[in-house]
Amino acid sequence: MEMNKTLPKNPGEQALDTFQKYRDYVITDFVKSVAPIVIVKGAGAVVTDTDGREYLDCFAGISVVNAGHCNPAVIAAAKAQMEKLVHCSSYLYHVQPTADLAEKIATIAPGDLSKTFFGNSGAEAIETALKLARLYTGRHEFIALQGGFHGRSYGALSVSGGWARKKGGGPYAAGVSFAPAPNAFRSLWPDDPEECGRQCARAIDDAIRFSTSGDVAAFIAEPVMGEGGIIVPPSGYFREVKKILDRHGILFIADEVQCGFARTGKMFAIEHFGVVPDILVSAKGIADGFPLSALTTRPEIAAAFKPGDHLSTFGGNPVSCAAGLANIKFMERENLCGHAAALGEYAISRFREIQSRNPLIGDVRGLGLMIGIELIKDRMLTPASSEAEAIRDVCLRNGLLIGLGGIDGSVLRFQPPLVISKKQMDQALDIFSAALQEVTQSK
Ligand SMILES: Cc1ncc(COP(=O)(O)O)c(C=O)c1O
Repeated sequence: MEMNKTLPKNPGEQALDTFQKYRDYVITDFVKSVAPIVIVKGAGAVVTDTDGREYLDCFAGISVVNAGHCNPAVIAAAKAQMEKLVHCSSYLYHVQPTADLAEKIATIAPGDLSKTFFGNSGAEAIETALKLARLYTGRHEFIALQGGFHGRSYGALSVSGGWARKKGGGPYAAGVSFAPAPNAFRSLWPDDPEECGRQCARAIDDAIRFSTSGDVAAFIAEPVMGEGGIIVPPSGYFREVKKILDRHGILFIADEVQCGFARTGKMFAIEHFGVVPDILVSAKGIADGFPLSALTTRPEIAAAFKPGDHLSTFGGNPVSCAAGLANIKFMERENLCGHAAALGEYAISRFREIQSRNPLIGDVRGLGLMIGIELIKDRMLTPASSEAEAIRDVCLRNGLLIGLGGIDGSVLRFQPPLVISKKQMDQALDIFSAALQEVTQSK
């Protein structure tokens, strides 16, 4: 299935042209393969390739188009803004869509988080959060989680806790200590997730005391881990963590880049866990595919920035902000949180039925429509990475797009547009179930 190395048999002329140009002109050497299809359009939870073949999209462009591909309300808002102003730099002059979106985010953000900085990508907003935490606290170190992922820039990789994403780029920034992720399935307490949560929270206290110089500015974590394999923490974990952080005067940066914007059944995933972060970072689902990211915090933390400390040329782009506002209004109007919660619960129960018939599935976990299926080879929980890749490829062949994740690439990820219908979800589950069977029988 390696498009950029081996072309598929008999591609149409238009596809062949794109494959060839990718081969000759696009750098793709950093990915194992690019799927051998050329996508030309998308609507809702469906994308179409150059041959007119439709695919059910259960990965949403890596968890981005939460309100559906080419959502008409979002597109209309972006088009209207494009007719008026595309760019003028929202930090040199006042721009209305930037102001309107920041105001809207203040109404949906947890607790008293009310001031927003806009960037272009998740990594950019993470870099901003790390810098702001240092400026506000006057401290310099960070605590992060093993398996966490925060982006591909240097600071973001420095707080990311996995060799797979970091290899080749080190050494990374000093002053980052890692604590275990609250992953009950691979912990010593698989049957007692809350104990796993308590022990993993305690490990943060240990990391502060034994692995830092006591100069910790912030703890950074994804409320639900995405790239690390869809890790949903036990319900009490973040409350325990927050108590420890407060005792040490350490800020909590919640990375909602992947789990935010209704993905988990609440506007922000941290709302499931009863704590308010000091800094909330979002991107991906914020503008239904238009490039935009946000850092939202309390006014007194934002005021740690002094003139000259920060900026972003494209940050707060008027078209992306207009799209973002329309996107959030659509989510509220259509109750995407409620839909994601209900359909996610249904899908997880069906995945568990499938699991009961196939020992290749070690764990089914998720929150809302952020679902991970971890594959194992045996009772020692040996990751079944090649099987996971094979299932993803068979799904693609049969018209279903899903993602792959986890530290060992053994977790299949279902993160569809949140507008996906129950009928489409059933179709996706059927295609997945057949692919699982096919790969199991071929091994
Ligand atoms: C949790 C998390 N944080 C940050 C990032 C980086 O976002 P971007 O690729 O937009 O820079 C990602 C990307 O996958 C992510 O999943």
